[in-house]
Amino acid sequence: MVTAAVFADFKNEVWVVDNDEQKIKKILSGKIPFYEPGLKDLIIKNFKSGRLKFTTDYTQVIPNSEIIFICVGTPNKDGKIDLSYLYAATKAIAQNLKKPTIIAIKSTVPPGINQKLEKWMKKYTQTDFDLASVPEFLREGKAIEDTLHPCRVVIGGNKESTTKKLLKLHKSIPGERLVCDAATAQMIKYGSNCFLATKISFANSMAFLCDYFGADVELVTKGMGLDKRIGNQFLRAGLGYGGSCLPKDVKALIHLAQEKNYDLKILKAVQDTNEGQIKYFVKKTVKLCSGSVKNKVLVVLGLAFKPETSDMREARSIDVIEELKKKGARIRVCDPVAVPEAKKIIAGVKFFEDPYLALKGAEALLLVTEWKEYQKLDFKKIKKLMKRPVVIDGRNIYNKEELRKLGFLYEGIGR
Ligand code: UGA
Repeated sequence: MVTAAVFADFKNEVWVVDNDEQKIKKILSGKIPFYEPGLKDLIIKNFKSGRLKFTTDYTQVIPNSEIIFICVGTPNKDGKIDLSYLYAATKAIAQNLKKPTIIAIKSTVPPGINQKLEKWMKKYTQTDFDLASVPEFLREGKAIEDTLHPCRVVIGGNKESTTKKLLKLHKSIPGERLVCDAATAQMIKYGSNCFLATKISFANSMAFLCDYFGADVELVTKGMGLDKRIGNQFLRAGLGYGGSCLPKDVKALIHLAQEKNYDLKILKAVQDTNEGQIKYFVKKTVKLCSGSVKNKVLVVLGLAFKPETSDMREARSIDVIEELKKKGARIRVCDPVAVPEAKKIIAGVKFFEDPYLALKGAEALLLVTEWKEYQKLDFKKIKKLMKRPVVIDGRNIYNKEELRKLGFLYEGIGR
């Protein structure tokens, strides 16, 4: 959706094809199936201009396209990468090709898969095509900004004419260009996401040590990040990483390595550390609730896997809530946009729109997703509303001194 909207905004004619009829109908009626800042306006603007169109019909769009982007999901299924959507899409494309076409894969796929895909597609077409790889580096919640101002544009392909055309298509987008073969481009994508996950798990390991040695992880990571070789991003300690990308790509790379008999120990440790953050957070909650959460009202602020999105895939809130439910807690939850999505996944909790209403009579406030709405809460008011003034801050967003001065029992992660 983001790729389509942005390229349409650059005055290209863009068709979006999806085999989910309901989804396309919803979009055509003006509803965007997920929340992403700025996306709705960009889609409506380009839809109205006639440059952006939607369909479920491959026969209508494939024969006339110059460049086709494949943006299907490659989710994880029992530890393996599920490539069924990729094979289905490439088959449907092949069956409808009528002239030589560039096919650029944006989906995150196993490095080196293009040769296999080429053979697969040739079963369904006699027409020439060239498969390239243009990996996606945007973050949810900042998708448009990242697409318009990326650090780099990576183009992986074997034919010069293809890479030239793809470079031309990206000409209005700034950022360094890296042209390479497709397998390298695909590896850059895995390497990037897995390294980001590694940074997070490293910060979380430091946070654990900070708790034990009486140091403050916020200042420790700040101090580390001032070294330009380390950098200050993705060192925020807390509940760890969730979402549809980092957990999946870490798992996938471990699996791909295993297939080549390589034990990718570093990423296994990253994954274990990430899982450990949930237990650590729950343990802190139990401790601050005087040793038991049974029958106690706990309020979880933030459900989405991160702020500015409605995406609940692998959200840390799900595991936190499940663990606390097992321990008998009565849970109330709030999120500014993810509640409709969350209702499909989380049961046995009470959903609230207003955090102040949710906190009335509660024994602990659990900050899970750092929405800006929850960063500026009126804690004087909250102190009066709660049964016990307890805050467990899973994203280290609150001023611990201020909260402690107000009489709150406060714990962050590594502070
Ligand atoms: C991630 C990458 O950041 C993008 O570059 C990539 O294009 C995308 O995956 C993808 O593969 O499509 P995204 O999943 O949208 O983007 O979210 P991130 O901003 O990376 O955050 C992932 C998780 O890490 C969130 O749960 C966030 O709360 C957590 N996080 C992030 C931390 O715990 N600490 C940090 O310092 C940063």
